[in-house]
Amino acid sequence: MIKSVFIGCGAYLPERSVSNDELAAKVDTSDDWIVARTGISNRHIAADGEMTSDLAFAAAVEALASAGMAAGELDLIVLATATPDETFPATATQVQARLGVAGIPAFDVQAVCSGFVYALAVADNFIKAGQARNVLVIGAETFSRILDWEDRTTCVLFGDGAGAVVLRAETSPSGTSPASDQRGIMSTHLHADGRHHDMLYVDGGPSSTGTAGFLRMRGREVFRHAVSNLTSVVAEALAANDLSPDAIDWLVPHQANKRIIDHTARKLKLPSEKVILTVAEHGNTSAASVPLALNEAVTDGRIKQGDVILMEAMGGGFTWGAVLARW
Ligand code: ACO
Repeated sequence: MIKSVFIGCGAYLPERSVSNDELAAKVDTSDDWIVARTGISNRHIAADGEMTSDLAFAAAVEALASAGMAAGELDLIVLATATPDETFPATATQVQARLGVAGIPAFDVQAVCSGFVYALAVADNFIKAGQARNVLVIGAETFSRILDWEDRTTCVLFGDGAGAVVLRAETSPSGTSPASDQRGIMSTHLHADGRHHDMLYVDGGPSSTGTAGFLRMRGREVFRHAVSNLTSVVAEALAANDLSPDAIDWLVPHQANKRIIDHTARKLKLPSEKVILTVAEHGNTSAASVPLALNEAVTDGRIKQGDVILMEAMGGGFTWGAVLARW
């Protein structure tokens, strides 16, 4: 049986951190409002000229170093982003060029905030199909470039950043131990419902306006859908593996809003100590948020080899999904 095993991770955040108070000097908002409604205190914003591929490359280099793997050993790069450097080519190919690994497949996955979960599922399926052995999976975003900085209902919520993991195919002899005891991805669960376009979208694009556009959102409706879709996909992931919530060592959720995360944890009856929270310092970094949170908890020693982790996310489309894995 082939499993996709996590062998390294990395992250990158732009140097500039912007506080709620700094935003409140520009739009009609306050630190109190943002913290109470979202749990966000700061977010990182990319420097002028710093692009999604720059963030992605830095995270990728760190992930490869932590995996002890040379870039030349990779045979696939999957990059999740909704804010590519350019309409085309894929940002993944820019990262590939900078890593100096011409020839291997490299492409982007677009599922907005669920992008990293979608990219992990794609990578896992390549590995299980025997088409790749060593895969670099990146989530990277510069959402600051698609924010309407005069719209207080959206501009306070998002930030820039990148996170990456390296997956390696490992074949375990059958009959040695139950599949759920072995390291690696246990299952992936993806969903989408395009009927909800108008609740969260960008009002531009090459085929519509010819401009990049700005993010538009009906926050209250998104909140309601997020809570219900995440609850159901988490239940689906546990049921597929015949596990109860207390088997989860760490919930690594998409970091959109602390209230959404608290709700998911409450439903699972998970104590807050088992929930990885980075939203306060990063804001919502879309496809980068899950790998940024994962990297933080691995780096500070909370997530250890053998721990069961549940990653989940929901984003524009709507798209949503979960990945259950043993680190
Ligand atoms: N500062 C101060 N006041 C604000 C701000 C702000 N930044 N933004 C909105 N308000 C005001 C509104 O104008 C409104 O005023 P009114 O009552 O006079 O009309 C009031 O605050 C309440 O607005 P609501 O939209 O009802 O506030 P809510 O409690 O729903 O919080 C929020 C808004 C934080 C956006 C919430 O709905 C939310 O988090 N939704 C989920 C959005 C999300 O996470 N999106 C990310 C992408 S999808 C995903 O990742 C899951």
